[in-house]
Amino acid sequence: MARMGQGTTLSTGLPMMVCETARLVLRRFTLDDVPALAAIHADTEVGQYIGGVRTLAETHCRVTEFIRDYERIGFAKWAVVLRSDGRLIGRCGPQLMRVESCDEVEVGYTFAKSHWGCGYATEAASAALSHLFRAFGKTRLISLIEPPNMRSQRVAMRLGMTHGDVPSPVETGWRGSSDYAALLEPSTVLGSSCTS
Ligand SMILES: CC(C)(COP(=O)(O)OP(=O)(O)OC[C@H]1O[C@@H](n2cnc3c(N)ncnc32)[C@H](O)[C@@H]1OP(=O)(O)O)[C@@H](O)C(=O)NCCC(=O)NCCS
Repeated sequence: MARMGQGTTLSTGLPMMVCETARLVLRRFTLDDVPALAAIHADTEVGQYIGGVRTLAETHCRVTEFIRDYERIGFAKWAVVLRSDGRLIGRCGPQLMRVESCDEVEVGYTFAKSHWGCGYATEAASAALSHLFRAFGKTRLISLIEPPNMRSQRVAMRLGMTHGDVPSPVETGWRGSSDYAALLEPSTVLGSSCTS
């Protein structure tokens, strides 16, 4: 069961916590995280299905965008750190996307290769989804996953996502080559959330 953060621990100098699980804390990124995230992004296996490896400068740019989006819309990819020692092991969270005239919230997850196979992605994404439903009132979330990315598909399925027929995203930061998508349809809501 994920617990929600109060949102402010800034007096301690710590970044804002979003939510926590048995083993993990999801918190906002700060620029201090750039080197550790860049090390994760530099791994070719990590980059295989997310558009390739990213440089330190590209990672800095992405984290700057995350920080801007926290202020602008309240969410963006969050840092995932181990509760045991605070080490950054991945990123997980939402990104606004425009998909064929629909506003979608795409949930993604990327973890250090050294921490694959431990259930961390599923644990973090599950907490992120709960947070998005509860704190932000989201009713529909998607994940865009390249067909050969079986690890990611297994995470999506464990989260309760189903394979959907979602058109290719446009005007987004998606750098993958596929329009495969999984739709998460929480038991409470359904139907189209396309409002524009
Ligand atoms: C996608 C990605 C996050 C999935 O990582 P992962 O380690 O396979 O996923 P999880 O952390 O949820 O771990 C699940 C695995 O750990 C195993 N596991 C081991 N201990 C576990 C535990 N205590 N709890 C739960 N699962 C555990 C599970 O059996 C499962 O293995 P399986 O999928 O072979 O059945 C990872 O491959 C990644 O970062 N890839 C690069 C970026 C990327 O492609 N992102 C997705 C873009 S769409």
